[in-house]
Amino acid sequence: MVVAIDGPAGAGKSTVARATAKALGFKYLDSGAMYRAVALALLEQGGAASDRARELDIVIGERVLCSGRDVTEAIRAPEVSEGASRVATNEKVRAALADKQRALLADGDWVAEGRDIGTVVAPEAPVKVYLVADPAQRARRRAVELGTDAETVLRDQALRDAQDEGREHSPLKPAEDAVEVDTTHLTVEQVVERIAGLVRAAQAR
Ligand code: DC
Repeated sequence: MVVAIDGPAGAGKSTVARATAKALGFKYLDSGAMYRAVALALLEQGGAASDRARELDIVIGERVLCSGRDVTEAIRAPEVSEGASRVATNEKVRAALADKQRALLADGDWVAEGRDIGTVVAPEAPVKVYLVADPAQRARRRAVELGTDAETVLRDQALRDAQDEGREHSPLKPAEDAVEVDTTHLTVEQVVERIAGLVRAAQAR
């Protein structure tokens, strides 16, 4: 089964999705890493975004490999975050990466994290979660991760949210049947337990 976890940056998706996958013994797919890998390739080598998205061999596991090169750290740079948000507006890029994601999800049990997993990539997923959190709290979490100040993060975050929610193709929004979980005042363990409960209920159906 696929557990889809969508929501804006900093809502706790990565931490929660990783921990949920571990708790359930499911595989974990970080779809954002694919957008980041394409953005990095474009920044470094240029070319047409849609060609890059189709051609790149992106392997996402403990490390992120892009056509054989380890880009795990490089794809987290601020300019790559900005580039990923931009490249994510390209319809052909989205189609190419969604195909890669569907091919992976077709086999086995997965927790897949992104912006459009529940709406576009795996609309048939039996468990869909949309994580949200207070913007200031999201910025604080991101700032700790990045080692920068929360105010700068808050500004960049507002820009990226507007770009992600306002784009024409697959804008960031919850699937109609997604369960919204506000993580502002919850621990990771509490969120994981909530999702594990949804998975148990889906398995019992
Ligand atoms: O989750 P992240 O910050 O690593 O995502 C990087 C960018 O990619 C972000 O701007 C949103 C975009 N993205 C997307 O449009 N669809 C996804 N399924 C995953 C990420």
